[in-house]
Amino acid sequence: MPHVAAPLRIGPIELWPPMVLAPMSGVTNRTLRALYKPFGFGLTVTEFVSSNALQYGNRRTMEMIDQHGVEKPVATQLWGNDPALMAHAAKVVRECGADIVDINFGCPAPKVTKTEGGSACLRDVVHCEAIMRAVVAAVDCPVTVKMRLGWNEGTLVYEEVAKRAQAVGIAALTLHARTAKQFYKGNADWSHIAALKRAVEIPVIGNGDLSDPQGAMNRMRESGVDGIMLGRAILGNPWLAGQIRALMEGREPEATPPAAERLRFALHHYRTMVDEWGEARAVPQMRKHLGYYLKGFRGASELRERLMRTETAAETLGIVETTIERLERENDGMIAA
Ligand SMILES: Cc1cc2nc3c(=O)[nH]c(=O)nc-3n(C[C@H](O)[C@H](O)[C@H](O)COP(=O)(O)O)c2cc1C
Repeated sequence: MPHVAAPLRIGPIELWPPMVLAPMSGVTNRTLRALYKPFGFGLTVTEFVSSNALQYGNRRTMEMIDQHGVEKPVATQLWGNDPALMAHAAKVVRECGADIVDINFGCPAPKVTKTEGGSACLRDVVHCEAIMRAVVAAVDCPVTVKMRLGWNEGTLVYEEVAKRAQAVGIAALTLHARTAKQFYKGNADWSHIAALKRAVEIPVIGNGDLSDPQGAMNRMRESGVDGIMLGRAILGNPWLAGQIRALMEGREPEATPPAAERLRFALHHYRTMVDEWGEARAVPQMRKHLGYYLKGFRGASELRERLMRTETAAETLGIVETTIERLERENDGMIAA
């Protein structure tokens, strides 16, 4: 079967499939990226890392840029506002294994924008250019940018930033089609992603609200983008990446596995987190993830509540194991709708 999509080229790096796991702070740590990439992503990106914090090299920050065990290629994302600090940080993450350095011009969180980082950079496109130029000059690998449409509805600067990006040697752009002021409200407006694709020659990756295989393919075709990025919809459902990959390869996608099998994978994720991060750090993080894995399950809210109250990994694993046994005994798909 001929491929329906073409590989995504970021500088000299060719990615197949042209599908990126979105950077998500507090979520896409090394363990998750290592576990989710083989489901069908061509590229994964770290959580955003502060260029300021990287100067000091503390343990938590260095853990965030650790790419050990994650299938290549890998991108590391940086945020900050000072071109010299961003350039220094880019060198550090490159030395620590990043194949691609990504600049964050998208984060709308006040703790980031109050220091003029993330999406606040979009309030000054000339300064954006200075940051991009400094980072491109600092490293011998492709540099990409992930941005929003602009700071607010009245200042949609994405095309302006993209043209400056192209001029200074940025290798690809990802656009999350919301403004910073929107946070996650409303819908991502893919007409802007299509407009960006028409405005520049470098590859464009579309992002925002992709949640089902055929819908993602339609968005990709209609906007003409070179690649897509998936965030929230993949949490607890990495099988979605495989389904989209199948469509990109002209194959029939496999059905999402039954509930018991999904929970078995959740257990594997849980155990790997405990092994790699220790129980004290893994348990609170995995509460959130178990919630994602239970999305759409019949009786999920009661189970989620029980899991929220557990204190130890053994207790949590016991509850999930019993649930799996019950599902298998009753041959229950346990999907709500
Ligand atoms: C919990 C969470 C954390 C995020 N952290 C980052 C981040 O560190 N860097 C970044 O560029 N975007 C971050 N994002 C935004 C996502 O990468 C993505 O652009 C956004 O969720 C829209 O895509 P989606 O609709 O597929 O989720 C985050 C989103 C979520 C939900």
